Amino acid sequence: MISSNTHINILLIEDEDFDVNRIKKTISYYDARIKVLDTVSNGMAALELVEKDPDKYDVVILDYQISGGLKGEELISKIKEIDPFIQIIVITKMTINITDYNFASSLIKSGAFWYCTKYPGNIEDYIYQPTDFTLSIFNAYEKKNLEKHKLKSDKKLRQNIANILETKKIIGDSKPIQQLIESIDRYAKSDANILISGPSGTGKELVAWNIHFKSKRKYENFVPINCGSIPADLIESELFGYQKGAFTGANSTKPGLFEVANNGTIFLDEVAELPLPAQVKLLRVIQDGEIEKIGRTEKLSVNVRIIAATNKNLANEVNNNRFREDLYYRLNVVPIDIVPLKQRGNDIILLFDYFLNYFSLDLGVDIPEVDEKAKDILLNYKWPGNVRELRNVVQRLILNCNGKIEAKDISDPMILRNHLIMKDETNFEELYQGQVLQLKEMERIFRKKYIAYVRSISNSDSSAAEKLGIAPSNYYRMCKELGFK
Ligand SMILES: Nc1ncnc2c1ncn2[C@@H]1O[C@H](COP(=O)(O)OP(=O)(O)OP(=O)(O)O)[C@@H](O)[C@H]1O
Ligand SMILES: [Mg+2]
Repeated sequence: MISSNTHINILLIEDEDFDVNRIKKTISYYDARIKVLDTVSNGMAALELVEKDPDKYDVVILDYQISGGLKGEELISKIKEIDPFIQIIVITKMTINITDYNFASSLIKSGAFWYCTKYPGNIEDYIYQPTDFTLSIFNAYEKKNLEKHKLKSDKKLRQNIANILETKKIIGDSKPIQQLIESIDRYAKSDANILISGPSGTGKELVAWNIHFKSKRKYENFVPINCGSIPADLIESELFGYQKGAFTGANSTKPGLFEVANNGTIFLDEVAELPLPAQVKLLRVIQDGEIEKIGRTEKLSVNVRIIAATNKNLANEVNNNRFREDLYYRLNVVPIDIVPLKQRGNDIILLFDYFLNYFSLDLGVDIPEVDEKAKDILLNYKWPGNVRELRNVVQRLILNCNGKIEAKDISDPMILRNHLIMKDETNFEELYQGQVLQLKEMERIFRKKYIAYVRSISNSDSSAAEKLGIAPSNYYRMCKELGFK
């Protein structure tokens, strides 16, 4: 809709006075909102005006047969180069065969919006049917605004993606991390499925985010799902969705995560935990590019890139018949292995500084100084929980330090890891003041604190269960008993 206070500003390029008058008459016949701001008789003069003030004109009306200087297609491309939003309507004499396909296509290719032939010089002194002509000018104006609007929203999208990539930055200049970043840039360009392997807390999810937001799918959804945290009987409906009435309780149709990720990327975290029946279905989706929604007869086509991650050795899982070999090969088209933090040398310090900055900013405190001896301790520690553990250690240190981090604060990061246990052990008397607790009760307290700690350094239930060395089912039961979640 063009509002009543809009003014459409025209630059007219026409060298015959008779036609200038006819055009002005035609335009002003119906609509005062269209104004010929300037009239020039040759291409060079037009370019000068557009260059001087690129935002001044919405639409250029160009007589194809102006004499001298820059003309026709060349002039159109030059104007569009200076102001890509300006719309150009070309008018020609009857002598040109407007139905000539080559002529029309060369005009449009060079950037013209519309073209039409002039009436012969005596028809009521109009150059065209006024309604047709004003309509083409309004359409040109709309197109200009749409293109401007699109540029703005594209810019916003690009900015959002730049922000995401900034918050998901991969820190490190060790060789393995530099190679990892190179692989991400390379694989982001392709559409191949990727399997990311690496110990817990090494950054597998972070890598998946980076691949998606650097790929051509970046404007589409990135859908992460943790295969280990969804109960086996719900996996299918989560992944593929269901139709209303497919089973008791299916009160409305639900899209599966594959549908949500259509044209984008799905991140199957802890893929080794996927139950075998769901593995069969997943294989079929990869093979056919179609999903079967529960309760729906027709299949649904999807185009989804799969990035899977695991902290297990998936080839071993295949050997032990816990993971389908055919699915393994479909997922592992491009393998990415992430090395443990301990093998990244000075990256430990870079990451420590990065998180120190991050949490200080977050809490609004000054960034603490770090003692050289403290750095030695950090470098020599094994970091079994990798980057996630380092991040948690920094977070705890920031909360407890007074502007400086010294060796004594982290004399042995193991102390930090075991912080909760040590405190209880050394403060028995103070804590329980002579009361004696039954061993069972004491064990419960220990269990609760220890499990809480392991949960805090794990980003999923199944990786916590693995760290604790217990089966996921056992872990869920224990968490329930202890009142977690
Ligand atoms: N190189 C890195 N630079 C910056 N932050 C990192 C890096 N690697 C990991 N992190 C951060 O460490 C934490 C753990 O990373 P992430 O969740 O990606 O690990 P993971 O390998 O998926 O772990 P898990 O196997 O336990 O699921 C996150 O907060 C992540 O942002
Ligand atoms: Mg993870």
